[in-house]
Amino acid sequence: MFGHRPAVPTNFTALERAARKRMSKQAWAYVAGGAGEGTGMDRNRAALDRWAIVPRMLRDTSLRDLTTELFGRRLPAPVLVAPVGAAGLVRPLADVEIGAAAATVGVPYIFSNQGSAPMEDVAAEMDRVAQTSGADAAPRWFQLYWSTNEAVVESFVHRAETMGADALVVTLDTTQLGWRPQDLNLGSLPFTRAVGIAQYTSDSAFMASVRDRVAAAKAAGQRPDVEVTLGAIKTLFSMARHVPGSFRRNLTSPIPRASVETFLDTYSRPSLCWDDIAGLRERTRLPIILKGILHPDDARRAVDMGIDGILVSNHGGRQVDSVIGAADALVDVAAAVDGRARVILDSGIRSGADVFKALALGADAVAVGRPHVYGLAIAGRLGVQQVLENLIAEFDITMGLAGVASLAELDSDTLRRMS
Ligand code: GLV
Repeated sequence: MFGHRPAVPTNFTALERAARKRMSKQAWAYVAGGAGEGTGMDRNRAALDRWAIVPRMLRDTSLRDLTTELFGRRLPAPVLVAPVGAAGLVRPLADVEIGAAAATVGVPYIFSNQGSAPMEDVAAEMDRVAQTSGADAAPRWFQLYWSTNEAVVESFVHRAETMGADALVVTLDTTQLGWRPQDLNLGSLPFTRAVGIAQYTSDSAFMASVRDRVAAAKAAGQRPDVEVTLGAIKTLFSMARHVPGSFRRNLTSPIPRASVETFLDTYSRPSLCWDDIAGLRERTRLPIILKGILHPDDARRAVDMGIDGILVSNHGGRQVDSVIGAADALVDVAAAVDGRARVILDSGIRSGADVFKALALGADAVAVGRPHVYGLAIAGRLGVQQVLENLIAEFDITMGLAGVASLAELDSDTLRRMS
């Protein structure tokens, strides 16, 4: 009626195109890039595209119920905001903006362990938004990368509990970063510029290890071996800007560089194994979700040890080139779990039809990654909000037009495999 256009394009292809124009080369490479030749990302799409929705007619869908319950909380739709590391490449305080948008829509935000703002700051803004809008809660979960420094793991778990996380999502598939040509070809890794390490630089256990590192280097009489290049100067400025404290003081302090080095040395632990997960079960009262499970045997083992949720994911195709498409893995994982834990899918969700198919294939909910970051790039907090609202609206319309009135009716009868 008024000719108002949405702040972000309403389909993924246009959204992605518009976002690319707003992002630096480095931000685009990091967010849009994947492992190797990108075959995992293609497989994520193929795994969803091989299913077609077969609408049913003459069913009353005038009232549709999209609500669902996850870990004791009623949600307006089976959609979560996936953790995306280093979103600070896209906008300052990216995680605060994303959290605020999620709180407005009422869907849970899984805070990234490699976030660009301390989890407490994101939680506070989400609470403020929820209070202002009269919502009873702004649900949030926390994604954990298992550091080689156990004191940091302990501290992150404690902080997540304290800031009101509903669940802990342990990422299993990134015990090291995948081979990512888009970043490598630019010589770019955001963490080296202190982008995406805010959970660490706000952490007392982590900062104690940074100070130990600085003291040990001093005692050994080591001086940083710095080649002065334009890149090195830019990195120095970026570090000084992204770690807490005064920019000026940071420029001459050894702490920013030592923080980055300590992060790179310790952020993840390739020796992580099932015993650690069993130990975590003893250490926290929060529901535990394992993220990155793709094999049904891993899912079965997780459920047998009392894990509460499985997040079927190949990390958006960012870790292993030629990895199985996440929705292909979902089919077997959902069968293995057989209702004994909640199953969530991420990697490749782009539209309401994708949400529909994921649920019909056995997921209880989906998490959406790159699309919300593209919304952030285009229109900040409002952009994220609209991406989430659009996804949910399209899912709602798809349900209605397919003759489905509630999530319980979404099963494999609503789909046909095309290849
Ligand atoms: C980290 O989570 C990444 O995918 O870069």
